[in-house]
Amino acid sequence: MPIVVVVGGQWGDEGKGRIVDLLARKARVVARYSAGNNAGHTIVNEQGEFKLHLVPAGIFYPEKTCVIGNGVAIDPEVLLGEIETLEQRGIDTTRLVVSDRAQVIMPWHKSLDLLDETMRGAAAIGTTGKGVGPCFIDKVARRGIRIADLLRHEDLTARVEAVLDYQNRVISNVYGGEPIDARETIEKYAQFGQRLASYVGDAQETVLEAHRRGEYVLLEGAQGSLLDLDHGTYPYVTSSVPSSSSSGAGLGVGVGPTEIQRVVGVFKSYCTRVGNGPFPTELFDETADRLRDHGKEWGRGEYGTTTGRPRRIGWLDAVAARYSVRFNGLSAIALTRLDVLDGLESIKICTGYELDGEILETLPARESTLNRVQPVYEELPGWTDATSEVRNFDDLPLPAQAFIRRVEQLLECPVDLISVGPAREQAIIVDPIL
Ligand code: IMP
Ligand code: MG
Repeated sequence: MPIVVVVGGQWGDEGKGRIVDLLARKARVVARYSAGNNAGHTIVNEQGEFKLHLVPAGIFYPEKTCVIGNGVAIDPEVLLGEIETLEQRGIDTTRLVVSDRAQVIMPWHKSLDLLDETMRGAAAIGTTGKGVGPCFIDKVARRGIRIADLLRHEDLTARVEAVLDYQNRVISNVYGGEPIDARETIEKYAQFGQRLASYVGDAQETVLEAHRRGEYVLLEGAQGSLLDLDHGTYPYVTSSVPSSSSSGAGLGVGVGPTEIQRVVGVFKSYCTRVGNGPFPTELFDETADRLRDHGKEWGRGEYGTTTGRPRRIGWLDAVAARYSVRFNGLSAIALTRLDVLDGLESIKICTGYELDGEILETLPARESTLNRVQPVYEELPGWTDATSEVRNFDDLPLPAQAFIRRVEQLLECPVDLISVGPAREQAIIVDPIL
């Protein structure tokens, strides 16, 4: 059976949680492979609405094993809070396996995230402030603390003592911040370790063993490919690798590239971005407000799940999206929030970037160039009928069908799944991906 990866195709918040929830039906294992609690997934099912930051969206199916892979940065306090909330709402979490190799977000990471953003001033990245970036920096600097370290008091003490002096010097001497107390941190994190102990295991083996048994494994991405450290709009990116290309999905749970059969990219029918950085198709008019506030009354507006920040809004950018399709090696697209476009007179898709009289069809690397490009739009007729109750492609209004066909052409990838609302059944399955 295949290993299938689900990645965000744009700048995050494409609705991956909702798509994973749908695709997880047939999976045995659902594993998160990257990022941390900077991510936020909203899932609506029979049990209600849930906002998850770390626990994979597969947790709502009682028979699935859910894995948090080694590639994830874990804030144990947030994870324990999420587990507690799920349990209180009657969701069994005993099937959760947390990688002993995953990095831990420590108190200094949270301090450094905020201090560093302040120091950057006008050039701030607009991070979620959860300490994820500094945690990944320390992973690469080989100063990280891993989940396994939390489980043995001696190991935790040794690790904290080895790194905290350095961290405190940076906090106070570089940033003028408050140093962190070693004893207090060790006791607090040792307790987190005890409370997490029953969940900690060999995540890689859990995934590979299910794969060897011939079971279907779903690797759940977080954030979006355009926030990818390597391929995204650097430096306005996140500090991990949300994409599936080379180091992302496989690395974050420990499976080789030959084991991955399919990569599904989730794209919104338009674009959003939170945080700073280039966004060629960004809108500042009433269309932006309308798209942002669609369904706001029932909590579905375009506001960050993690930070509550209003998301920046723009038309679908086919240049950026095609780039993402290509470097992820996507086999299928899941197009979300089609219903949000209902009732618009016309819909635009950006098909190229104009720069000094030339048309670019690929994403430039340089930030200053990306800030200067002018989107070239193709305008398609909109539709008036609501799509939220439609379950078959052929029942969609003809202009909506034409829009989707055009998206497939421009992105050079089939749209196999369309979502028309937040509930599990509000989906049009064009090709059952699995
Ligand atoms: P960080 O990941 O908190 O360091 O933030 C870096 C950038 O990625 C900022 O622009 C954030 O707004 C953005 N970002 C991080 N996680 C998410 C997410 O899950 N959805 C959307 N944007 C995100
Ligand atoms: Mg999100």
